[in-house]
Amino acid sequence: MINKGIILAGGSGTRLSPLTKAVNKQLLPIYDKPLIFYPLSILMLANIKNILMIVNPGQIENFKSLLGDGKRFGIKIQYKIQKKPKGLADAFILGKSFIKRDNVALILGDNFFYGQSLTDKLEKSLTHNKGARIFLKNVKKPENFGVAKIVNKKIKKIVEKPRKFISDYAITGLYFFDNEVVNYAKKLKPSKRGEIEITDILNIYKNNENLSYEHIGRGAIWSD
Ligand code: G1P
Repeated sequence: MINKGIILAGGSGTRLSPLTKAVNKQLLPIYDKPLIFYPLSILMLANIKNILMIVNPGQIENFKSLLGDGKRFGIKIQYKIQKKPKGLADAFILGKSFIKRDNVALILGDNFFYGQSLTDKLEKSLTHNKGARIFLKNVKKPENFGVAKIVNKKIKKIVEKPRKFISDYAITGLYFFDNEVVNYAKKLKPSKRGEIEITDILNIYKNNENLSYEHIGRGAIWSD
């Protein structure tokens, strides 16, 4: 069972500058709500009530005045500061004392998922006690994402931002892991872009034949 979740809401949001000079990207509105409400509601739909929010230094008070300790949403929210954007896998190093011996979900604070069919898929993913589970969506520009190559319904290859086409299945920013993820994250070396990559963790699970996926079909949308 998975009942803990991390929302990674760091990052400098340079592409949205100057808006993001004063306000974190995840606090900017999408329609009538701050972006962060959407990934938060995905975890809540998955019945995850114990949440760690990883934020930039200087933004923690803004997040706290928006979300507080989570009580008014019927959940528990704790906060952790990420001093520098070291990569998505850093979430498991920063989150070690939150995760303890439990399994954990990770969602990126700037990912937007919507669609009814998602709830079933989320619930299915929660019952996974072993391995990792990812959500894939076909995209037009796979070179901008982590990508999974599927052969006979199995994940054969995971590549971060492939320069040459291998597949159009993008790896979305929603992941479910067993507790091994904490150990795997500690062993990672930074990539060329100087980050510890979540795709390197996924490759460890894949090599151990412990990586499964859900496909987000036409009934749902995803954007990041
Ligand atoms: C990150 C991951 C990538 C994933 C994407 C989803 O990319 O590295 O594997 O497909 O999030 O949003 P980044 O946003 O760091 O370029």
